[in-house]
Amino acid sequence: MSGATGPSLQLRDDGRLRHLLTLAGLPRANLVELLDAAAVLRGDAAGRAALRGTLAGRTVCTLFFEPSTRTRSSFQLAAMRLGADAVNFDFALSSAKKGETALDTMRNLEAMGVDCFVVRHSDNGMVARLAAAARPGTAFVNAGDGQSSHPTQGLLDMLTLRAHKGADFSALRVLIVGDVRHSRVARSDLQALRALGAGEIRVCAPAPLLPGESELQGCRVFDSFDAAIEGVDAVLMLRLQRERMEEGLVPSLEQYFADYGLDARRLERAAPDAIVMHPGPMNRGVEIDDDVADGPQSVILDQVANGVAVRMAVLRAVLAE
Ligand code: NCD
Repeated sequence: MSGATGPSLQLRDDGRLRHLLTLAGLPRANLVELLDAAAVLRGDAAGRAALRGTLAGRTVCTLFFEPSTRTRSSFQLAAMRLGADAVNFDFALSSAKKGETALDTMRNLEAMGVDCFVVRHSDNGMVARLAAAARPGTAFVNAGDGQSSHPTQGLLDMLTLRAHKGADFSALRVLIVGDVRHSRVARSDLQALRALGAGEIRVCAPAPLLPGESELQGCRVFDSFDAAIEGVDAVLMLRLQRERMEEGLVPSLEQYFADYGLDARRLERAAPDAIVMHPGPMNRGVEIDDDVADGPQSVILDQVANGVAVRMAVLRAVLAE
């Protein structure tokens, strides 16, 4: 969600986070505070152990209307590691299957005493709408809404970049490749990279997979992957989101891999110490080759580990008394 209710709804009067709905319009100070907190949590096992009781007595519900592997599990682990009670709503086994609306589903779980909902939904803006309809004290974290926003993925990607390339992004050259148009991850990454002052943001995609021009402000846009990757410090690969796509946007998967797939040969054009990122799930052989996904420059599992720390930091922030 890039407009209306998201950004204005998510901050309290004193500037602290009430919800995390989008990185669009989130002040840099809030972003950096979350990253700093997550960096400490990531590195410090003793510190993490000391936090065990932080959210004791609070209840976090993962309310996912779309599939998830990494995001849901890491939110559940984050909640449990902070001592919260964690309850999971399983769409496939729920009354949503019988036609219950997302709003009614949320209100029923809220009546059971849920303090924080972590929500994923296929509709842009659904998480903000649920947040606006909930009781004043109930917190919401967007775990991906439609194509618009995936703020904790944006944060964990920034934490990963910081860990490998340092906190000063002013000289950093970052390339985002693939299905940018359908990607809520790309939108959140672009917002975060701009807010943190990334030196150069490059975007590479076939024309049908590029978003509107207004979303590419400040980016260098490439059609040729070989040209785009020249000298970059980080390559962020995206999944081809065929479930969000009309037919025919991509000629064939073989051709897509030939033009926009990352393999070891192409990666040689990047800076020698460039890192390779992917939010998962990967389509191996479609956007990324095994050699790269499992190679020495891949930090893909590091992103996953950083996800737990970021989500602990976010839950702690929105559930702070
Ligand atoms: C992403 C998502 O669901 O937006 N996955 C994730 O959370 N790591 C990316 C995707 O589905 O391609």
